[in-house]
This record gives sequence, C-alpha cells and structure tokens, in this order.
Amino acid sequence: MKRDIAIVGAGYVGVPLARTFADAGKSVLLVDVDASRVAQLNAGESYIEDVPTEALKPLVEAGLVAATTDYDELGEVDAILIALPTPISRQREPDLRILLSATELIAPRVRAGHLVVLESTTYPGTTREQVQPILERGSGLTAGKDFHLAFSPERVDPGREDWTTKSVTKVVGVSTRHRRPRRPISTRQRSTTSTAFRHLRPPSSRSSSRTSSARSTSPSSTSSRSCVTG
Ligand SMILES: NC(=O)c1ccc[n+]([C@@H]2O[C@H](COP(=O)([O-])OP(=O)(O)OC[C@H]3O[C@@H](n4cnc5c(N)ncnc54)[C@H](O)[C@@H]3O)[C@@H](O)[C@H]2O)c1
Repeated sequence: MKRDIAIVGAGYVGVPLARTFADAGKSVLLVDVDASRVAQLNAGESYIEDVPTEALKPLVEAGLVAATTDYDELGEVDAILIALPTPISRQREPDLRILLSATELIAPRVRAGHLVVLESTTYPGTTREQVQPILERGSGLTAGKDFHLAFSPERVDPGREDWTTKSVTKVVGVSTRHRRPRRPISTRQRSTTSTAFRHLRPPSSRSSSRTSSARSTSPSSTSSRSCVTG
C-alpha cells in the first residue's frame, strides 16, 4: 500500500513523529525489528508515554498509521526517516552499528525521488561520510541528484508537555552538492560552524563544565539542532 512516510525505528522518537505526521493527514508506516511492538502499534496500543493510546488508536483505525517488520515496504513510500538508536559506546561516542546495519537494508529499497532523513543523534559527518556511501552503493543512485538525503536530528525531550515533537524547532541539513558548486568555507564561517557544532562533539572532547551546561540547554535554544552537517 502506498504511504507518504516511513519511519524506521518505532521508539521514543519514531512513534511521536508518526503521530505528528498522521495528525497532519499524512499516512505513516513504522518499520521496526520488534514484532511485538509492531503488533501493539497495529492494534492501536501505544507503549510510548508521549503518545497515549487514545491518540494513536483513531489514527491506526483511519489507516494513517501502520507498522511492519518488512523493510520491503519502504519501496512504497515517498520519504524514509531513520530514527534508530545510537547508544553511547564505551568510548563515549555514538555507537552507529544498529544505524549502519539498518542502512544496508534500507539502501536497496531506495529509489529515484526518495527523500531519506537521518533523525538519530550522532556526530557531524555521519550522514555524508557513512550513511550516504552505503545508500549510494546499495541503490546504485546518487544522493543530491537521484534521491535526496538530509540530516535532521530529533530534539524531543520525552515527558515534556511545553515542548513536543510538533513544537520543537529543528534544522534540516540537505546535500546540494550536485545542484550548485560549493563555495569555499571562510575562516569566519568555519569558526561559527565549529561553535554551533560544539554541542554534538563526543563528550570526551569537551570539558565537563561545558557538557553539563549543554545538557541543561532548553529545546528553544540552539544546542543539538545545530548539527546540520551530520
Ligand atoms: N529518546 C529521546 O529522548 C531522544 C531525543 C532526541 C533524540 N534521540 C535520538 O533518536 C534516536 C532514536 O532514539 P529512541 O529513543 O527513539 O530509541 P528507542 O530505543 O526508543 O527506539 C528505537 C527503536 O528502533 C528499533 N530498532 C532497533 N534496531 C532496529 C533495526 N535494525 N531496524 C528497525 N528497527 C530497529 C527498536 O526495536 C526500537 O523500537 C537515537 O539516536 C536517540 O539518541 C532520542
């Protein structure tokens, strides 16, 4: 069945995202390896506190939200959002193993015109240096030319009612390298960018006082949304 959006990873990020899109009238497919979660979602039952069952059930019954374990269904959507876990490793860096192995499964399902958006938390360079080559190799297509590839890290803070998936501002970084030539980055731009991305660097490369101040930053300020080149 043709759907607007697929979200790979039906967790704290994926389910509220699905609800937000469905509330706006978009049809959403959640793709998850956990068959019991998929069954619960298809029964209209939520296991995510930010999305009550009373909110999810009507969307499932209206056919706006469905779930599957079958990656083949990705071929039937217009956009693929990736909201997979990137747990902190022993080296205090995002562990990309789940993300990259799932990207291998997504790649052969990517077709011309698709939009693929990485929503997971990670460090700058992940989209361009790790996700993009896997998608291009597996699909035989070129990002920025045949399909669109973006990074838009989720910033939701589960449990909060003042800032939700719908209201938290996000930045979307998209590759345009095949559309127009890139201008060289000036020293001033480089400095601004590195300040903006400081929050996303692995904690080991930041001072402890900076880490704690970054953690206490409110969703309305800059913070992690600045990692647009990830
Ligand atoms: N939870 C938060 O508060 C929050 C906030 C902002 C950003 N993030 C980031 O968003 C990303 C997702 O986090 P989350 O909290 O939603 O994770 P989560 O653990 O709640 O959910 C992840 C889901 O992915 C599924 N999954 C695991 N491997 C899979 C695979 N190979 N294919 C398909 N599904 C698979 C799991 O079964 C689970 O349902 C992470 O990078 C996290 O850092 C999380």
